[in-house]
Amino acid sequence: MARHRTSLHLLGIFLFAVASLKQYCANGEPQVPCYFIFGDSLVDSGNNNNLATNAKVNYPPYGIDFPEGPTGRFCNGRTTADVIGELLGFDNFIPSFLSAKGSEILKGVNYASGSAGIRSETGKQLGVNIDLNTQLQNHQVTISHIVDLLGSKDSATEYLNKCFYSVVIGSNDYINNYFLPQFYNTSSQYTPEQYAEVLMEQYSQQIMTLYDSGARKAALTGIGPIGCTPGATASYDTDGSLCVDSMNQAVNLFNNRLKLLVDQLNSNLTGAKFVYLNTYGIVSEYAASPAFQIKIDGCCKVNEYGLCVPYEAPCELRNLHLFWDAFHPSEIANKFTAEISYLALKKIL
Ligand SMILES: *[C@@H]1O[C@H](CO)[C@@H](O)[C@H](O)[C@H]1NC(C)=O
Ligand SMILES: *[C@@H]1O[C@H](CO)[C@@H](O)[C@H](O)[C@H]1NC(C)=O
Repeated sequence: MARHRTSLHLLGIFLFAVASLKQYCANGEPQVPCYFIFGDSLVDSGNNNNLATNAKVNYPPYGIDFPEGPTGRFCNGRTTADVIGELLGFDNFIPSFLSAKGSEILKGVNYASGSAGIRSETGKQLGVNIDLNTQLQNHQVTISHIVDLLGSKDSATEYLNKCFYSVVIGSNDYINNYFLPQFYNTSSQYTPEQYAEVLMEQYSQQIMTLYDSGARKAALTGIGPIGCTPGATASYDTDGSLCVDSMNQAVNLFNNRLKLLVDQLNSNLTGAKFVYLNTYGIVSEYAASPAFQIKIDGCCKVNEYGLCVPYEAPCELRNLHLFWDAFHPSEIANKFTAEISYLALKKIL
């Protein structure tokens, strides 16, 4: 109980600090001219809407608390990327790659795709997705338009160096790959340690590609406690624990390596600043706090893929639920995660 009080107290201080920062920076230009987002359904803003996949959600009740209604966001409201965009001072949400038009791309683009992973096969049992390599290729398309808009390659590079980049990826390499042996054989090929290593080798090359494309300020987000999602605890034996511990342990191996990768990138790449966002720790902190009374179950009736059943009314008190559907946090959880993450990423802006 004492521990919980301390956590809550700290969170209160964090949120107060965020509120002060926000006020200080309000009015005028955003803190960076542009914000590029790569990742999976945690930050997807509609890129899967026209794809042949079961991993798309451009229907009610998704978006019930979002100003534009259902957009393809896997949430009742804003994602962490949306909230971070607001804290950075952007007036509008960063457009999805699917919808971005004309000079809009100068503010940034969101390439994220539900079910996508670091590995290209990840999530494909659900249908088509835009894996991280393809997202990086899509970024090249954006860059060529920015060269046209700014008139030269040099001015585009100078511009791209000033942007903020965030990558939220890896959950599906576990949920929709390693822990689905009926579809994928990675768990028979690799121990959890080896798998984390293999993922990190590929991920570090992908981040180098981003660096070569001009990224100099980037946040790499760790994986959250996926073993505690309603989808995980419904599908796997928890052995009396509240969560599927084997999933959380596997994810922590990944996160520990990701932290090391960020340290290496910071010492190897001059002029670049990377930050690791400890989503696992952040979520565990507020999820454990009884004062929040956040319910661990989801807020809507879900289908076989763990997504809300179309047009079914969701729960009323959405701000009391940590989860929206079987896998995705609710807007209130995204808000907490984003506000605490923002304090860490401020250091590299
Ligand atoms: C795992 O699956 C891939 C693709 O389906 C296949 O190429 C590979 O040979 C398999 N590996 C093992 C060890 O079964
Ligand atoms: C950083 O440099 C060290 C020493 O040259 C090298 O072993 C390591 O692979 C590099 N890591 C990255 C992520 O560039």
